[in-house]
Amino acid sequence: MSLVEQLDKNFNEAIKALKKASSDEQIEAVRIQYLGRKGIITTVLKQVKDLPPSKKPVVGQRANQIRNQLEEQIKQTTSNLSSQKLEQKLKESTFDFTLPGRIPAIGNKHLISQIIEEITQIFIGLGYQVAEGPEVELDYYNFTALNTPPDHPARSLQDTFYLKDVKDTARPDEEVLLRTHTSPIQVRVMEEQKPPLYIIAPGKAYRRDVADPSHSPMFHQIEGLAVDENLSFGDLKGTLELFVKQLFGEDRAIRLRPHFFPFTEPSAEVDVSCALCGGAGCRLCGGNGWLEILGCGMVDPNVLEGVGIDIEKYTGFAFGVGVERIAVLRHGLDDIRRLFDNDVRFLEQF
Ligand code: DAH
Repeated sequence: MSLVEQLDKNFNEAIKALKKASSDEQIEAVRIQYLGRKGIITTVLKQVKDLPPSKKPVVGQRANQIRNQLEEQIKQTTSNLSSQKLEQKLKESTFDFTLPGRIPAIGNKHLISQIIEEITQIFIGLGYQVAEGPEVELDYYNFTALNTPPDHPARSLQDTFYLKDVKDTARPDEEVLLRTHTSPIQVRVMEEQKPPLYIIAPGKAYRRDVADPSHSPMFHQIEGLAVDENLSFGDLKGTLELFVKQLFGEDRAIRLRPHFFPFTEPSAEVDVSCALCGGAGCRLCGGNGWLEILGCGMVDPNVLEGVGIDIEKYTGFAFGVGVERIAVLRHGLDDIRRLFDNDVRFLEQF
């Protein structure tokens, strides 16, 4: 038998053996028997170098062909076997692989948190630092230190949640309450840090309001405070204009209306031009073309002096933004109570 015939015979035997193999071990045994270091086909391949030059190419070529084909066949058999095994496993399993998967509900940030983050980010971009203060606050910080005299209507029992009975405390200053605005954070910051100060302070505030479409006993504000040399009302207006344009868009204008807050002098309320009519007057803005968005003013010298800031050297401005109000204006919400109902069908829209 020629070497080539010998090779073909070995190849056919190997293929037959592979067909019978029913485990990875049996396949490996066939590989070793024919293609291993001392395997039958390997041994023939080794003899090629001793053949006369005229026969070398023919035998060499056939031997390589056979080795490649056999290797290919081994691979194929191994992969067939593993698919068979998997199929078998699936058949035996009681798990229904055709069931559609469960899609987990993915949460998102609450609209109020999103707006707080966005506004805070705008002021961080202007060099402001974020401050916080307690929600359970002393009367002193909520009112007295903010130049709010004891007979001011904002202090009335109707507006404020007191945590202690008024008569229980020796001095009205020591009364404990839920802060009615974020402005007390101004005082706490000024007590601890020296000017120049550029502060943005978001947080919850509480008032004894009956919940209705535009009131909630708990709501959110963002307080701003700047104290520095030579700060003027023009700086306040410029800052707010920049803020409003970043928040609502370059095409929106602001206007300042004189107002009264005990802790600022002069004080103003800021309106933004109506998105719907641009100032002409429509249903959204109640016909006057403007929507109120915040209160502001120059920090009253009494407030600065109360925390020991030199009013000959420093001036300050402050502002307070209602977060729910921004949400209403932005999204045309008809009722702020929806923000606190925790109905995901509402919340997941933002
Ligand atoms: N604290 C005021 C309020 O709750 C809002 C406010 C007005 C804050 C003027 C300020 C300010 O800082 O300067 O109605």
